[in-house]
Amino acid sequence: MRSIEIIREEHRVLRGVLDCFESVLDCASRDSGPNMEISGEVLGWFERFADGVHQNKEELGLFPRMIAAAPEISRAVLKELMWLHAEERCRLVALRVGFASARGTEAWERGRFLAAARAYVEFQRHHALLEDEVILPRACEVLDQAVDDEILRTYAQIELDALGPNPEAPHAFLVRLRERAKQIVPSLVPSSHEDLCAGCDGCRVSSPRACSRGF
Ligand SMILES: [Fe+2]
Ligand SMILES: [Fe+2]
Repeated sequence: MRSIEIIREEHRVLRGVLDCFESVLDCASRDSGPNMEISGEVLGWFERFADGVHQNKEELGLFPRMIAAAPEISRAVLKELMWLHAEERCRLVALRVGFASARGTEAWERGRFLAAARAYVEFQRHHALLEDEVILPRACEVLDQAVDDEILRTYAQIELDALGPNPEAPHAFLVRLRERAKQIVPSLVPSSHEDLCAGCDGCRVSSPRACSRGF
């Protein structure tokens, strides 16, 4: 189902961004800290897309339809997921605060931002894995084609409201981020999560033109 594949594809892009961001964090020196320009751009994408659009698609599009279709098997699992979303938002606020103070001159402030960023990366990996392995297979079992179309309409409205009519595709952001990160991490290679791009997968959330494999 398209509505489920879209969430899966966005998780693949998210993992690619997390891998890339982690490589940038690994290059941080004790004196100068991480590259703040790239960190700021990634943080903005987390806020705008990963936390904003993506989680709203789950919370307003996918999860409510799962509960409506199979309340007895969906409610407990999704309650846990909503807790994870709330926790993610708290961590993201902490990351934004840490980012602001890491622009100061104190090394410990940069260290605090680094620690918060690494914790956020690990948390988001766990979150996406849980959804891919537990939630999405369950969604496949309980949703049907008519509901799929409804969810897709909700996704489209969320994207339009948050990003406007011609947003940058998530995969295009990842390709652009990796090119920039290569300037400070020359050894950076595409993560395994980028092997299959949105365009290759026929996914409407990304443009085939953004495909790093030339599709
Ligand atoms: Fe989620
Ligand atoms: Fe997700």
